[in-house]
Amino acid sequence: MAANSMLGSSLVKKYWMALTGLFLCTFLIVHLAGNLQLMGGDAAREGFNEYAKFMTTFPLIKITSYLLYFSILFHAFDGILLTIQNRKARPVQYAYEKPSANSIWASRNMGLLGTIILVFIVTHMANFWARMHWGEMPIDVNGNKDLFTVVMEFFRDPSLGVVFTLVYVISMIAMGFHLWHGFSSAFQTLGINHKKYNKIIKSVGYGFSVIIPALFAVIPVYIFLTK
Ligand code: HEM
Repeated sequence: MAANSMLGSSLVKKYWMALTGLFLCTFLIVHLAGNLQLMGGDAAREGFNEYAKFMTTFPLIKITSYLLYFSILFHAFDGILLTIQNRKARPVQYAYEKPSANSIWASRNMGLLGTIILVFIVTHMANFWARMHWGEMPIDVNGNKDLFTVVMEFFRDPSLGVVFTLVYVISMIAMGFHLWHGFSSAFQTLGINHKKYNKIIKSVGYGFSVIIPALFAVIPVYIFLTK
């Protein structure tokens, strides 16, 4: 394949990675806002279950969910292809090369970090989303599926609750590193690259990559500690 078309295809891949990645960032904000209700104690049960019902049945949100699943798969698949392509482009590392001198650890390990996040999402969806859609669910006083209780019991499981909580915290650390590089990199790839705005975009990206995963990690820790 000509060098030009290789470059072209890798640029196109990066473009789609950036678009789907930023869409997934907006999902994280919405998902976090909904999940914060899980720290409201028993009083939050019926409200959270009503919210979960709305999110799984309202037609416009259902359509957005399909776009979300597609984006997760596309972002992951494209990321794997890009990682392989980058490795092939430089099969032998230069002996004198010192990567840490010109790039941060996260940017050199986006494939690894992304894989950890993908494994997290698949197991996470198997535990909650798949059960909510097709599994056996307790029912609350309003007749809604009691997702609130399912989440509480998951992180408060007498033997595995501590493991699940730790896995969530570790996954959120990986997500933080992934976003630390990915957020501002996406804007660069999309060509939103101006002296005046670069500093702001970087700062927003660093803030996002610390605050969002940290808040996600607090939720299971809080549930586990308040059993
Ligand atoms: C404290 C951390 C989290 C908790 C307690 C949590 C809880 C849940 C629950 C209860 C559901 C099922 C909702 C439903 O089917 O209506 C769900 C779905 C989902 N979660 Fe999470 N989540 C957490 C973090 C995350 C993170 C960090 C990601 C992505 C990296 C994520 C990705 C997803 C996805 C893709 C779905 C399916 C959403 C949909 O169908 O619209 N979650 N989560």
